[in-house]
Amino acid sequence: MIKVCLIGLGRTGKEIARVLLQQQDLTLTMAVCSPYSDKPGKDLGSILNGNDTGIIMKSSLNLAEQLENSRPDVAIDFTNPESTLDHAEILGRLRIPLVVGTTGFSELQQRKLMYITRKYRTGIISAPNITLGVNVLMVLTNLTASILDGYDCTIVESHFKQKKDAPSGTAVKIANEVLKGRSGTGVNLHELDHREVPIHAIRAGGIIGRHSVVLAGEFDKIEITHEAFARTAFALGALKAVRFICGKIGYYEMDEVLDLKNVILRYLEREANIRSQRFGGELSFPFPLTEEADI
Ligand SMILES: NC(=O)c1ccc[n+]([C@@H]2O[C@H](COP(=O)([O-])OP(=O)(O)OC[C@H]3O[C@@H](n4cnc5c(N)ncnc54)[C@H](OP(=O)(O)O)[C@@H]3O)[C@@H](O)[C@H]2O)c1
Repeated sequence: MIKVCLIGLGRTGKEIARVLLQQQDLTLTMAVCSPYSDKPGKDLGSILNGNDTGIIMKSSLNLAEQLENSRPDVAIDFTNPESTLDHAEILGRLRIPLVVGTTGFSELQQRKLMYITRKYRTGIISAPNITLGVNVLMVLTNLTASILDGYDCTIVESHFKQKKDAPSGTAVKIANEVLKGRSGTGVNLHELDHREVPIHAIRAGGIIGRHSVVLAGEFDKIEITHEAFARTAFALGALKAVRFICGKIGYYEMDEVLDLKNVILRYLEREANIRSQRFGGELSFPFPLTEEADI
């Protein structure tokens, strides 16, 4: 049984708590809110508008002490960049791995998160894009941008009006995937400037999350869209990340959790097998990308 500490009981954190409470292999042992809220001392159930859970909300003011007492195996944080960094430092010191769902980090803050994993030899997953669907969109975007490299690319993201950061962290990552797709193999990640890809951010009503990539040429266009209908999508992604990071050291992102690179390798292998069956078993993986092989 993996013991989980959840930090941040806002819109997303509450849904994560609801889904966590239903898991067989995970147990929520600690729920942490901000020192400024009215939640400390209340039963988590009352915050979720459900039955009592026996889990009493703690304030993050004395996080280290609370963690020493509860000793969770993993923590999840969906708060804000400044708070998450403070929490990551405390969790790092105690060598408790962390799933970061918070978005809106500056480049420097993101580097600090990476540094914490090295300083304390602990594990962190940074996932501004925690759903499986958005990560599939990233891979498709990278491939599409590399194939249609002359096409104009624009990203449109829509979220509820209270969302603080704009553009979303996911939109920025999608822009980087476009640039990576277009850069060939010698890409230097530090030289990518996401601002080269226009991003339009819409903040309106209660939209949970929608990201759309448009690649338009003179005569046709491709549009790849992901839309979250419910925050349960974020919760399920967070729990996958928890299971992955438990017992690991290092800095990870969601594509590693979801093993998407192996999905692509399996696709190539499958295609190679089908080809080799069609051509009498002479072609093997990786099949030669020559004119003869394409006949
Ligand atoms: N990775 C993803 O796919 C994904 C998906 C959705 C959201 N997010 C990101 O996750 C973050 C939270 O989103 P949200 O929509 O849930 O926002 P939200 O509704 O504003 O919730 C944030 C919660 O964090 C609590 N908090 C603030 N400081 C804290 C601290 N020091 N210690 C403990 N709790 C603290 C807040 O205060 P109280 O305790 O006072 O209530 C609030 O309940 C944002 O950065 C958002 O962009 C990421």
